[in-house]
Amino acid sequence: MAKTKSAYFCQSCGYESAKWLGRCPSCNEWNTFVEEITEKAGSKVPSWKTASGSQRLNKPTKVDDIRALGEERILTGDQELDRVLGGGLVAGSMVLIGGEPGIGKSTLMLQLALNITGKKVLYISGEESEQQIKMRAERITNQPKANCYILTETSTQNIFKQIETLDPDIMIVDSIQTLHSAHIDSTPGSVSQVRECTAELLRFAKETNTPVFLIGHITKDGTIAGPKILEHMVDTVLQFEGDRHHVYRILRSIKNRFGAAAEMGIYAMHGNGLREVSNPSEILLLQREEDLSGIAISATLEGARPMLIETQALVSTAAYGTPQRSANGFDTKRMNMLLAVLEKRCGFKLSTRDVFLNIAGGIKVEDPAIDLAILVAIISSHEDIFISSKVCFAAEVGLSGEIRAVNRIEQRISEAEKLGFEKIFISSYNLKGLINTKYKIELSGVSKIEDVFSMLFG
Ligand code: TYD
Ligand code: MG
Repeated sequence: MAKTKSAYFCQSCGYESAKWLGRCPSCNEWNTFVEEITEKAGSKVPSWKTASGSQRLNKPTKVDDIRALGEERILTGDQELDRVLGGGLVAGSMVLIGGEPGIGKSTLMLQLALNITGKKVLYISGEESEQQIKMRAERITNQPKANCYILTETSTQNIFKQIETLDPDIMIVDSIQTLHSAHIDSTPGSVSQVRECTAELLRFAKETNTPVFLIGHITKDGTIAGPKILEHMVDTVLQFEGDRHHVYRILRSIKNRFGAAAEMGIYAMHGNGLREVSNPSEILLLQREEDLSGIAISATLEGARPMLIETQALVSTAAYGTPQRSANGFDTKRMNMLLAVLEKRCGFKLSTRDVFLNIAGGIKVEDPAIDLAILVAIISSHEDIFISSKVCFAAEVGLSGEIRAVNRIEQRISEAEKLGFEKIFISSYNLKGLINTKYKIELSGVSKIEDVFSMLFG
């Protein structure tokens, strides 16, 4: 009789080892190895039906001879999601959606299942009961004619049995960490279970050309729980993020084999589900009655979409010996770097001041073009001089205080113009390549941070 095989897996990164180790050689985490059974005694190579596909022998083919199939895209009816996916859902693709608990992953997926037209959707839940899902469905939609089936099941083998009779067009799994396969003995959510269940679902998706959505939990540090290879196996990884106390949620693509990564969609969570936000700039710019200091507006780009975002800074005298530095929605290390540039290049004494930074709307920005707006907001608060609400900024700031060019400047300028801004500060290198007369908005090219300050604060 065949022996049961087991191996040790790092629960943090999925590294496999034949013996127990105290420290993972791959991710350097301590005490993360757990023994897991990789193959049960007497079990065969698992497949979603029977192992047949793997017997076929593939021959090398010249690229020119491969018949190109037009990628079949399924429109989900959710414009934000379609855009993030790169223009709709690709048949046979596997999409992983990660996010913190309570952010709205189940809501987003159920909403898709209920709103898509002409497709049979199977929603598999290992987390909630049928009644709970029904209650949520009633909250989201009042048209109960959707072609959506709910299955509360956690065994992949049972799921595949149901699929054979139901034959769904789209499948949603909530969540991958609750599933278990009979081929593996470890508990649901463990590295080898997650890997095996994903592999089985992946085989099903590719063999039947059915798109599959997987919902994945994330760990404390924000990565998707389970092995990193989970992210390698799937075609697309989306991250659903936002502040639970704000209404806005952001769906970001981290990896996408069928479209641009770093694409982004914005939703607002209401009492009756998630609503798409098609014009983000208008809500991200706070309506202001009076001019306040410490606010500057940046023309940023998220994915392919330009957005104007308000950056807010508060600079105050430090109450304790060590000044506090904190940033919401912006990298704290980068803020410290920008503050050092201000000290060294412009002579502002900020070492005895608390500096707080906030990006409006609970959004996280990684676009370096926000640098200039952040510096201006800090100085505006420091000097208590307001910046006109008709002025915006789009440039990166370098370590010696030079204003650097940013990509896709035309898009940023057009968006600012569309929203009624009268002046935009950009790098003089960006300005060189532009046809100045094309725009109604005044373009101000600057090359040093000192120039910006003397123009704004005199
Ligand atoms: P949920 O989809 O359960 O989150 P996840 O699956 O990511 O854990 O979302 C739950 C939160 O969303 C919960 O706090 C309630 C809120 N919510 C609304 O505000 N409006 C709604 O219509 C729904 C369905 C949920
Ligand atoms: Mg959920």
